[in-house]
Amino acid sequence: MQIIEKIKKLKEEKNAVILAHYYVADEVQAVADYVGDSFYLSKVAVNLTAQVIVFCGVSFMGESAKLLNPDKMVLMPDMKADCAMAHMADPAYIAEMKREYEDLQVVCYINSTAELKALSDVCVTSANAVDIVKELPGKNILFIPDENLGRHVAKQVPEKHFIFNPGCCPVHAQMKADEVKKLKELHPQAPVLTHPECREDILALSDYIGSTSGIIGYAAASEKEEFIICTESGVAYELGKRAPGRTFYFPETLPVCMDMKLITLEKIADVLEDENGQVHVDAGISEAACRPLRAMLELAEQARRKKEGK
Ligand code: 13P
Ligand code: SF4
Repeated sequence: MQIIEKIKKLKEEKNAVILAHYYVADEVQAVADYVGDSFYLSKVAVNLTAQVIVFCGVSFMGESAKLLNPDKMVLMPDMKADCAMAHMADPAYIAEMKREYEDLQVVCYINSTAELKALSDVCVTSANAVDIVKELPGKNILFIPDENLGRHVAKQVPEKHFIFNPGCCPVHAQMKADEVKKLKELHPQAPVLTHPECREDILALSDYIGSTSGIIGYAAASEKEEFIICTESGVAYELGKRAPGRTFYFPETLPVCMDMKLITLEKIADVLEDENGQVHVDAGISEAACRPLRAMLELAEQARRKKEGK
């Protein structure tokens, strides 16, 4: 309890706000001002008045918040918390594809380094990728770094030609279809809710495929009593709050992103106190890396208005 009081006091003193992803530990989500998926958190990040942002997540999230708020202080409670997939594209391959396809649009999953964003036309998240790709000019799309998400998006936008990149999330790509099948046999009434970073064989077993917010929203709106959840197990905390009394089954090999779990209450208090862990983006690439993030926010808004007929 003491540590929570300390964080609250420091937050007030520093005019700070805490953002957290659904994959961080329960007690970290509990102390945050905003908790959500990558898309929600990037929208929140552009409208903050606080001078200091503590980002409880992995480095591409802190980096994105800094790119969108160059004049604010963005603190990461643990600078070692990184997303393995964020590095899984080769700039040389991107350059080669740009030479080969004149109209190429490089679509960059937000789970990527600032360096990769700087080589891209637009960012996407799992919540908005289909809507954004549909809005892009030209036919040829290079989707980096996640091949599983890229293939899932491609199926829904058949009018485009997709080029994929061999990157994946180790946590989602290692989920086993056999374990999901076993859960389905044991709980035949339970719909399978899956993140699109999972492999095709898991997606094929699923009733709903969407971002972490999408999965939570689906369960909260459903009348079903039990659900099979194929994403990182940190979502259980928000699922419990938004769909109380229901049962959630995760694959037997529990999907855990160890990098997300590096964030602790003690580390949040420490960075607020000593302001170590400030995110800096190389000045040479920050403008180029911010452009696709801004393009994402604009195109997502454009797509939302179109859907609502405004
Ligand atoms: P969301 O876009 O659902 O937040 O997913 C982020 C992520 O890191 C998935 O592994
Ligand atoms: Fe990256 Fe996967 Fe962890 Fe998400 S769950 S942050 S994609 S390693």
